[in-house]
Amino acid sequence: MTVKDQFGSRTILAIETSCDETSAAVLKGTQVLSNIVASQIEMHQKWGGVVPEAAARAHVEAIVPVVEEAYSVAQTNKIDAVAVTNRPGLVGALAVGTAAAKAIAIIKNIPIIGVHHLEGHLLSPWANSAPEQIITYPHLALIVSGGHTELVLIKSPSNYQICAETLDDAAGEAFDKGARLLGLGYPGGKAIQEAAQLGNPQAYDLPRALKKEAHKFSFSGLKTAMLRLVQTQGSNLHIPDAAASLQQAIVESLVPKCLTAIEEHEVTSFALVGGVSANVLLRETLRKECERNGIQFLVPEFEYCTDNAAMIGLAGQFRLESGESSTSALDVFPNADLPLPPHN
Ligand code: KG4
Ligand code: ZN
Repeated sequence: MTVKDQFGSRTILAIETSCDETSAAVLKGTQVLSNIVASQIEMHQKWGGVVPEAAARAHVEAIVPVVEEAYSVAQTNKIDAVAVTNRPGLVGALAVGTAAAKAIAIIKNIPIIGVHHLEGHLLSPWANSAPEQIITYPHLALIVSGGHTELVLIKSPSNYQICAETLDDAAGEAFDKGARLLGLGYPGGKAIQEAAQLGNPQAYDLPRALKKEAHKFSFSGLKTAMLRLVQTQGSNLHIPDAAASLQQAIVESLVPKCLTAIEEHEVTSFALVGGVSANVLLRETLRKECERNGIQFLVPEFEYCTDNAAMIGLAGQFRLESGESSTSALDVFPNADLPLPPHN
């Protein structure tokens, strides 16, 4: 199947407000004409995490200027449809984006499509891909974000089967909680990566959980080990070494299970997606391992790793091209399983 077969060539507006980024994008097919992200990180930094009520209010303030800027950068507001994240996420935050998307769809008299946030991440490697590029099925994807750590087998477009998941924390949480313990602030992934550049990844001995379990991840033991390390080392703790050791432990907790799953499911293509896919050590380790095994490695450009509306646009394009659309009764859901293949 080609990129054009799967995503079509509509011009659409996409909106993402599921957590702490207000984002709007305009896409033509898979080409991203604009992708505006207004981050609330500074506001939430004060509290060391996302405060849902504050997030929703900040989306209310940002949504109109962000959509206007997306039109302005794309140099068009002539759109065929609107895609919006309506699940899963913070309910108040999702409601702001969904209400805005509905208003735009009603005023312009165009279709609206509700998108599952994780389907957006899963399709993010195809942002700006050429229409004639071939998408191989089945393929395997590792979703690593602030809330998810899952290996997903994709047998055909949107036919998702979860083949491994975390028993406790997500990989992104391990970065975020580790960063907080090391006093590196929120969100932690980027801060750990930066501090780790000057550190020795072998300096501290941290656990790689469930080594023999191919279908389960676990990061809570790593969090406890980090807490113990901080407590026992006190002011002797070398922050760059601790950051590098934590990053290495997270990467080594993920990569072997990906390679086992690639073999188990006999796929020839592997995608790394979600906010943690911005981690250079993880990207490069998986890239090398895939290359060594003759597996195609797919990863989003950095701009499309952490939450953004362009990836929501890709999921919207795919659903619309399959003949699906939502109605103005579109609702929001804090929790939702991965979506089923399109129905029309
Ligand atoms: O996908 P995302 O933007 O939001 C969710 O849907 O959760 O992922 C956010 C997660 C955070 O835990 C953040 O610390 C992590 O992605 N992250 C990183 C990096 N950039 C963001 N983790 C490791 N290295 C990075 N460079
Ligand atoms: Zn996300």
